[in-house]
Formats: sequence, C-alpha cells, structure tokens
Amino acid sequence: MYRLAHLSDLHLGERPEHLVAARALVRSLLEEDVDHVVVTGDVTHSGLVAEYEAWLELFAPLLALKKVTVVPGNHDRAGDGVAELLSDELRVSVDGREGLFMVCIDSTAPHNRSTFRSHGDLCEQMLGAVDEALERAPQGWTRAVLLHHHVTPLPVEGLGEWFAERFGWPHAAELPLGRELLRRVQGRVDLVLHGHKHVPREQVLDGARPLRVANAGCSTVLGAYRVFSHHAGQVTAGRWVHAFAPTRPPLLERVLHGSPALP
Ligand SMILES: [Fe+2]
Repeated sequence: MYRLAHLSDLHLGERPEHLVAARALVRSLLEEDVDHVVVTGDVTHSGLVAEYEAWLELFAPLLALKKVTVVPGNHDRAGDGVAELLSDELRVSVDGREGLFMVCIDSTAPHNRSTFRSHGDLCEQMLGAVDEALERAPQGWTRAVLLHHHVTPLPVEGLGEWFAERFGWPHAAELPLGRELLRRVQGRVDLVLHGHKHVPREQVLDGARPLRVANAGCSTVLGAYRVFSHHAGQVTAGRWVHAFAPTRPPLLERVLHGSPALP
C-alpha cells in the first residue's frame, strides 16, 4: 500500500500562526513517512514572493525528496502572482509517482488577481485535456485529479459567501463545469482532491470504480490532514492525522461550523 497525504489552503503569510502551523505539518508528514503529498492551492495568502519563499523554506525537506505536487489557488494569483512559481504554466498537466498518476488542473484565472473575485475557471478545452491525460495513465495505478476549486455546491462558509449566494455573484460558486468533470472522470479516476472551501468534506460516488471526492479544508488552521492508503486504484477512506492541537480554537470552531467533526 502507498500512502498519500492531502493538504490545502495553507495561506502562508496570513498570520504568523500559519507559518508555525506549516512547520508542524511538515514535521508530522516526515514522521508519518508518507509516499507523497499533494497541496491543492492557496499555498500563499497574498500571492507574494516572500510568502512563496516561506513555502520553499518550510517544505524544503519534502521538496528535496520530490514528494510534493502542488496546484495553484486563487490567492496564489494575487499580489506578485506566484501561481507559475508553484506549478508549471499548463492549465492541465500530469505528474506521477510509483503507483500514483495525477492529473493537475489549474482552476485559477486572471480575474483572481482581485481576492474578492475568487471563483475558479474550468472550460471544455481543459476537460478535453483531462480526457487525453487519463488515456496515458499506466494500468494498475491509482488515479487522482487535483484542483483548487470545488466541483459541486458546498454549504456557505461565512457572511461574504452568504451575500454572494444571495445576490447571485459568482465568487462562492462551484466550478461551472465541475459536475461535468465528475461525470467524465467517474469510473476512470479514484480520487478528486480539492480545497478552496475551508471546511473539510468527503463524498464517495459509488460504482464499479468508486470515486472519492475530498476537500482537505484549511490545513494550517485545522492542524490536520488526511492520509489515503491506496494500491492499484483501491483507496481507503482518508484517515485524519493531527499534527498539533489547533492554537486558535475560536477560528477552528468557525472553520468547522456545520461540518462533521474531525474524528
Ligand atoms: Fe481559495
């Protein structure tokens, strides 16, 4: 069995606590000795080069082992714009480790330079590229699709999203072609991993090849991440690993509001 850790929405630079949390997460990941780590966007809070450099320093032990795959989030497009530093410039690319084939989707767009316009972008051309990428997946490997934005509607988190939904603004909405993406990959992919929403979720679409759709939430505030054990497309339910006791319980309460509690 291989073990894959999923983190998201580190928001490095938002507060000093996020950096402390990231250091603890990396220490925990090294102790767990997972085979690979994916981070599904919003690595930085303001898209600053200084925040990107903090990422490089904090995650250096894992990056040196080539154990990390990243897709950018909307916050990485703000400020200096570090999305291209975090991943390549392709909207759809592939990455692979023994036993794991990953299709990486950059769901961010130029409008994300404004942090208020945080919604993602996914077009037909990108779906075609995902189709083509999956044709190249080695037989017998677990397959994962990584992207930042959520693919199905999820509960409102916070007042800003409540207003957006009420007035029909797009910024809190799921990806316009998110459901179509799921329809196309169901039966061909084992995991769709995303973030953007800070409350973690997980759902399984049943079938001959079940598809697990998981949102990691904001790992630096939760102080926890999921580890999926997998082999040849057989994937276990994500096991939560707690890297530290959250230092700011009120914020954690807010993040978890309305969410199933972490086990
Ligand atoms: Fe985001």
